[in-house]
Amino acid sequence: MAASAPGVVKVALEVNGKTRTLSLDPRVTLLDALRERLDLTGTKKGCDRGQCGACTVHVDGRRVLSCLTLAAGVSGKAVTTVEGLANGDRLHPVQRAFVECDGLQCGFCTPGQVMSAVALIEEGHAGSEAEIREHMSGNICRCGAYQQIVQAVRTAKEAA
Ligand code: FES
Ligand code: FES
Repeated sequence: MAASAPGVVKVALEVNGKTRTLSLDPRVTLLDALRERLDLTGTKKGCDRGQCGACTVHVDGRRVLSCLTLAAGVSGKAVTTVEGLANGDRLHPVQRAFVECDGLQCGFCTPGQVMSAVALIEEGHAGSEAEIREHMSGNICRCGAYQQIVQAVRTAKEAA
């Protein structure tokens, strides 16, 4: 992070494998930088206060709530959003499982749920339904698609 104009910092993020350089107010959240500056609107703004999980992305492979993360604070790090999961037209196995298991209803919470699910499978926290529920508990779905979401995580884990 280097100072440029007063009140503005230069932030370089590697987003979905591409380096993006932004001049930002240091108070800008990672969520707003992604959505408003980089047009990556797959990451959703639900509560904007760390309570719903809709804004979950990965930073250096670990899930974070992007509404509680300052963009300047993760300068130089690798950020993965839901847009970075698919390989061309080929959906990530977790995305496929969400579709197969009907784990999305209105779909608003889905990007955050998918990002958490990818992380928790990689963390080895998808061993049982109880464990999946515990490790997905920071992601709220207002439609109540929880049963299908758990099924999707199990399906993706078994396919992994
Ligand atoms: S928008 Fe970040 S936790 Fe709700
Ligand atoms: S699918 Fe609607 S909030 Fe989750």
